[in-house]
Amino acid sequence: MDPTTLEGRSLCTWLDYTAEEIRYFLDVSKQVKAESQRHEVHRRFEGKTLALLFEKRSTRTRCAFETAFGEEGGHPVFLSTADIQLGAKESIEDTARVLGRMFSAIQFRGFKQSTVETLTRYSGVPVYNGLTDDFHPTQVLADIQTLEEQYGPAPGKKLCFVGDGRNNVARSLMVICAKLGLHFTLITPPSLNPDPDLTARCTAVAQVSGAQLRHTPDTAEVEGAHAVYTDVWASMGEEAKKEERIRLLRPYQVNQALMDKTGRKDSIFLHCLPAIKGEEVTAQVIDGPQSRAWDQAENRKHTIKAILLATLGS
Ligand code: CP
Ligand code: NVA
Repeated sequence: MDPTTLEGRSLCTWLDYTAEEIRYFLDVSKQVKAESQRHEVHRRFEGKTLALLFEKRSTRTRCAFETAFGEEGGHPVFLSTADIQLGAKESIEDTARVLGRMFSAIQFRGFKQSTVETLTRYSGVPVYNGLTDDFHPTQVLADIQTLEEQYGPAPGKKLCFVGDGRNNVARSLMVICAKLGLHFTLITPPSLNPDPDLTARCTAVAQVSGAQLRHTPDTAEVEGAHAVYTDVWASMGEEAKKEERIRLLRPYQVNQALMDKTGRKDSIFLHCLPAIKGEEVTAQVIDGPQSRAWDQAENRKHTIKAILLATLGS
């Protein structure tokens, strides 16, 4: 793969990337993690600027972008909707045009996937999706890196997502697993299955990569899983649905009994965080020996640096 083909690209969803390109980001991430462990200092973003637009809260994504970019000499600027006009008094298109004249790249976290796509279309600079209602692509790159640190190459391994099957993280996992040839089982009540359009697109991708994609309400299907993954039952913006979700998803809590159903002593637990202990996962599991949630959080920074390096042409 020619890495220069990544220069100037945006990341709205992994659907826009090939398996080889995703693999390249993972390789760069591994390299920058090793550099960080050796305490090497680089200045690869000197003279560059990054706008960080946030409609929703964030700990990991914001800190990963700010530290990955800033420690290499780049200048990140955090802008919440309390600070700038973003679709309120000024159209997204016009904001994109203006930011594109001042910044080397833009990160957007917010509600609509169409906003990150509009920013991409009108800014003329790389735009990164730091989470929308539909997708969370930078998260799942870190998740694959974490899984590979445990088991080696992802293709042929089994990842189960247990919980709200139509949320941004579950949908993004389905996409990246389909691309990379990782078997993906979504364990969720039928009413929370992702939309059939996305499932059909992922199924077509999986036919090429060899990934097996399954949707099931049966938690016994965690059997053989290398990794069990969950996320909050009500995502940001869905607070009104919380009570209903708790009733619906209680049988899907990831507790030790569910982890034991994998039948593998070495299976790992993954969570994008933030977690609500006692709801989607017990403290015993997330704070226990099978959890890799904290490695995942650290890997957000390395994978985000890899995405910035490859797309900003450093
Ligand atoms: N996992 C994740 O995106 O965390 P934040 O919401 O804290 O950014
Ligand atoms: N599904 C969660 C992910 C948080 C990182 C949310 O959107 O709130």
